[in-house]
Amino acid sequence: MTDADANIDPVPSTASAQTRTVRVDLGERSYVVAVGSELLEFAGMLVRERLGTKPRRAFVVVDSGVSAADRQRLLAGFASVSLDATVHELRATEHDKSLATIQKLCESMTKARVERTDVVIALGGGIVGDVAGFAASAYRRGVAVVQCPTTLLSMVDASVGGKTGVNLELSGTLKKNMVGAFHQPIGVLADLATLATLDDRTFRAGLAECVKHAMLSAEFGDPDLMAWTQTAAGALAARETAALCELIARNVAIKARVVAGDEREEAEGTTGRALLNLGHTFGHAIEALPDARGMRADGTELPGAIHHGEAVALGLRAACALGESLGLDRGYANSVLALLDQLALPRAAKGLPATDEILARMADDKKSVSGVLRLIVPAAPGRSVIRSDIPAPAVRSAIESIRSV
Ligand SMILES: NC(=O)c1ccc[n+]([C@@H]2O[C@H](COP(=O)([O-])OP(=O)(O)OC[C@H]3O[C@@H](n4cnc5c(N)ncnc54)[C@H](O)[C@@H]3O)[C@@H](O)[C@H]2O)c1
Repeated sequence: MTDADANIDPVPSTASAQTRTVRVDLGERSYVVAVGSELLEFAGMLVRERLGTKPRRAFVVVDSGVSAADRQRLLAGFASVSLDATVHELRATEHDKSLATIQKLCESMTKARVERTDVVIALGGGIVGDVAGFAASAYRRGVAVVQCPTTLLSMVDASVGGKTGVNLELSGTLKKNMVGAFHQPIGVLADLATLATLDDRTFRAGLAECVKHAMLSAEFGDPDLMAWTQTAAGALAARETAALCELIARNVAIKARVVAGDEREEAEGTTGRALLNLGHTFGHAIEALPDARGMRADGTELPGAIHHGEAVALGLRAACALGESLGLDRGYANSVLALLDQLALPRAAKGLPATDEILARMADDKKSVSGVLRLIVPAAPGRSVIRSDIPAPAVRSAIESIRSV
């Protein structure tokens, strides 16, 4: 992990001593992710440090789930640096993650007279970050954005790396993240205090992305991340601040290294950004299914649709099954499954369609190249590989391994 260069450091020295910073190294698009408590107050200063005196207005896109107190902490910091603020609230649903919402946002920015030199602030989970980031990338051909993630998943994953976008709905089928842009933020403030209002299920869904990072971590400089996560699982489930701060900073560091090596997901081989899709091709195929339900290890059903992070957890299970059929050590695969159980993430899904339909949905995923299924497969502890040559029967039995009757 690298501490920030002074000129892109978003955290003034007055911030809490417990703040951790991780630099995302992208040449002139580099920025710093700060992780700690009481950081929202510094968003205004971050804007001034990164953009100077030009911005006059902050256009704040706020998730309707974020508390009034957290909104207030953010807004209070703008007054001291003479930034006017306009607030636009968004409902965070996959249905609202749409081009129609982008249109409304851009209209609202126009009414607020947001200039190209102004700044967009995204305060919310991954949906709000993706939507606000995409609007910022397109409005007046691009304005700066600061990401202030408020869910665990968006802190460890969605807010870092510059992927933004919305879904398309075609004939009633949701096509995830089909329209979007790469638009790196000028800084990320992961304020742990915002997590206090997050429900347990949404919080745990974020832990699935952490297990994913741990399954890649040996390649990206942190081979002990899986063992540390296993040891800290109790403290993490109890949301202990020190454990959370370490978890988020180490996970962001993995994501930052992956992104720095392959910003636009163009590389093949063992270090490309495509590795971050571990568990996601299975997960996306399950996530969008209206009748599918997650099942806990104790056999009870999780109510309502499967959350993104829960779908990823199921995808990681399927990926482990696939890995085992291709020679992955069974002891390691079992330790990953045990960690997912420890974190109370779903063990299986019921209400899944026929395996052929799931396979077709996976092949239709936008990560497929020319219709060829490209899957990320765990190959050794902390290491996963990209494969386009997996026999269909192995994929079928991996799907079956997460089917609950
Ligand atoms: N851009 C990327 O690189 C990237 C990476 C991973 C995931 N994603 C996207 O992120 C989305 C999932 O993000 P998510 O898991 O953060 O879920 P989310 O954005 O759907 O938020 C989940 C729920 O939590 C609420 N919420 C947010 N912050 C809260 C808070 N502090 N207190 C109380 N409630 C709060 C929201 O209103 C929503 O109801 C998906 O659309 C996924 O595609 C993007």
